Amino acid sequence: MSIQILGTGAYVPERILTNDELSTMVETSDEWITQRVGVKERRISTCESAAEMGAKAAQRALEAAGITADQLDLIVGATVSSDTGCPSMSALVQEQIGAHCPAFDVNSACSGFLFALDTAAAFIARGGVQYALVLGAERLSRILDWTDRSTCVIFGDGSGAFVIGKGENYLGSHLHTQGGDSVLSIPLGKGNSPFYEKEVEPLAVHMSGQETFKFAVKQISADLKLIAEQAGVEVTDFDWIVPHQANYRIIELAARRLGVPMEKFVLNLDRYGNTSSASVPISFDELARSGKLKKGDLIALCAFGGGLSSAACLIRW
Ligand code: UT7
Repeated sequence: MSIQILGTGAYVPERILTNDELSTMVETSDEWITQRVGVKERRISTCESAAEMGAKAAQRALEAAGITADQLDLIVGATVSSDTGCPSMSALVQEQIGAHCPAFDVNSACSGFLFALDTAAAFIARGGVQYALVLGAERLSRILDWTDRSTCVIFGDGSGAFVIGKGENYLGSHLHTQGGDSVLSIPLGKGNSPFYEKEVEPLAVHMSGQETFKFAVKQISADLKLIAEQAGVEVTDFDWIVPHQANYRIIELAARRLGVPMEKFVLNLDRYGNTSSASVPISFDELARSGKLKKGDLIALCAFGGGLSSAACLIRW
């Protein structure tokens, strides 16, 4: 499809929560989290909403792209932890950056950014949209159960954004949903209805870690092979892979299955943990600003999470 990335940006809040500090809150240890997940510390918002963090990443992506907010024709955001059900996170970002275009959110959990990117790419291919802002922004610390050590040690807050426009650099994409709430879900709790009689789980991330783990390894491998096939290349031809930053062991196993060296995977989960839909654009932004990218590099992006969902796409730099 006919798009290119014009600029990227990312933002994480200042407050650092280390494994050692977390070990004073729940029964865990730096050793366990480092070995089983790979996270050393994560960023936690103390006063910013998902939209406020999203607006900061968006400003940086606009600056990198060299365009102004009023030139945007579309904003598509991804989040599972917006501070408001309405307005959408994207509508709040639109106001904060001073844009005037249509803005809406998609929700596909940790795969959300890649679903949003594909949606914006389709709008550009349809015509009528020259510049689009795509972002993932999460304040997951708001929806975690801070007494559940199997989930609260994994996640962090942050945001990442792309400005995209017409081009020829989106070589393939694949979106996958395997609907169901038994493995990973974020129920929003009972709500205010005096009429609803069903028992509902409380607001929190509910996750079967091992089931999610198996799904992730399988889907990363399958999705990356699929987009390579679409583009007529081999997975081993990818110069870089920007994966969802959920667990070092997931990435290591997928790399082994694919026969791709770990050096090709962009990793920052040790510093930020799993920031859900923000994880891929934050990692991509770090790669883009690292000076390591060469013109023509093939960069694969992949993600997985609630839905269950997974997604991948291939970009030529
Ligand atoms: O973006 C959303 C996608 N989510 C993911 O990708 C998550 C995928 N899953 C995972 O990353 C891993 O399954 C976890 C990190 C969540 C858990 O790791 P695990 O190796 O699957 O551990 P486990 O759930 O099998 O638990 C092993 C042991 C248990 O103790 P017992 O029953 O063996 O005595 C747990 O109670 O580890 C215990 N445990 C912990 N111990 C210390 C679980 N969490 C912790 C903890 N600290 N934080």
